[in-house]
Amino acid sequence: MIKKKRDGYPVLSIKNLRVSFDIENKTVEALKGISFDIYPKEIVALVGESGSGKSVTCYSILRVLPKNASVSGEIILSEGKRSENILTVSSKRLREIRGNRISMIFQEPSAVLNPLMRIGDQIVESIMAHRKISYDEAKDLAVESMKKARIPDPEKRFYQYPHELSGGLKQRVVIAIGIANNPLVLLADEPTTALDVTVSAQILRLFEDLKDQLGISILLITHDLGIVAEIANRVLVIYNGQIVEEGDVFDIFDNPKHPYTKKLLESRPTLKNII
Ligand SMILES: Nc1ncnc2c1ncn2[C@@H]1O[C@H](COP(=O)(O)OP(=O)(O)OP(=O)(O)O)[C@@H](O)[C@H]1O
Ligand SMILES: [Mg+2]
Repeated sequence: MIKKKRDGYPVLSIKNLRVSFDIENKTVEALKGISFDIYPKEIVALVGESGSGKSVTCYSILRVLPKNASVSGEIILSEGKRSENILTVSSKRLREIRGNRISMIFQEPSAVLNPLMRIGDQIVESIMAHRKISYDEAKDLAVESMKKARIPDPEKRFYQYPHELSGGLKQRVVIAIGIANNPLVLLADEPTTALDVTVSAQILRLFEDLKDQLGISILLITHDLGIVAEIANRVLVIYNGQIVEEGDVFDIFDNPKHPYTKKLLESRPTLKNII
């Protein structure tokens, strides 16, 4: 049963998600039955150490896991009256969902952008993959999306190539691609790790704007508890393929229950040991 709380019903509901990988006659369990909801207009942080299952969670949601993965459980995407299990939708519907209802942003923007293609055309391409409109119409929407991603001079930048942009701007282009089709959910897998502190803070502000102004829900994967405290509404702590703690940011910071969360909070750099 869907619980009614926060802002309406969950846009994404993960239920008992299990993922294992077959490697040379061995099975590695990466996710051991995790469940969580993402509500409209919230930033949910997924924190946990390396190898705990954060990226596998994102890849499962978009069904982009490698062939040696076995997946069970449910990933329910809801929009209006329509509710569907991503794990069982047709491949046609899956293509409609990816980059259109759910988009993903990665750590390294250069790995996503095509170096030989103008950035504007990369946004246009993502729009035209989902809508039957003319290039000129798609171009207007692309510029619009660049504005939403707070890219200065979007009409001029439209014609630039990735190498002409700073790391922060490249990540904004990836975000512009991600939001171009007005998705419900953005999955951001350590989106600021490759950026310096100032630029990283600007990107996080942008996420807050996307949430507040466009109503996009964001699943934000990070190692950085400073980031979590700054912008997340809710925190999920994942440890060894299981969600061991979930709650309000302030509750978890003030009163961590699981030993792993306590350890994570203790190792957090404080102003005292930075200066
Ligand atoms: N393609 C794969 N084949 C086999 N095992 C995999 C594969 N992808 C991930 N795993 C395993 O699944 C587990 C979870 O990996 P995942 O990449 O989700 O970790 P993570 O929390 O994102 O870590 P990091 O913080 O380092 O990015 C790890 O034990 C990893 O070795
Ligand atoms: Mg990862």
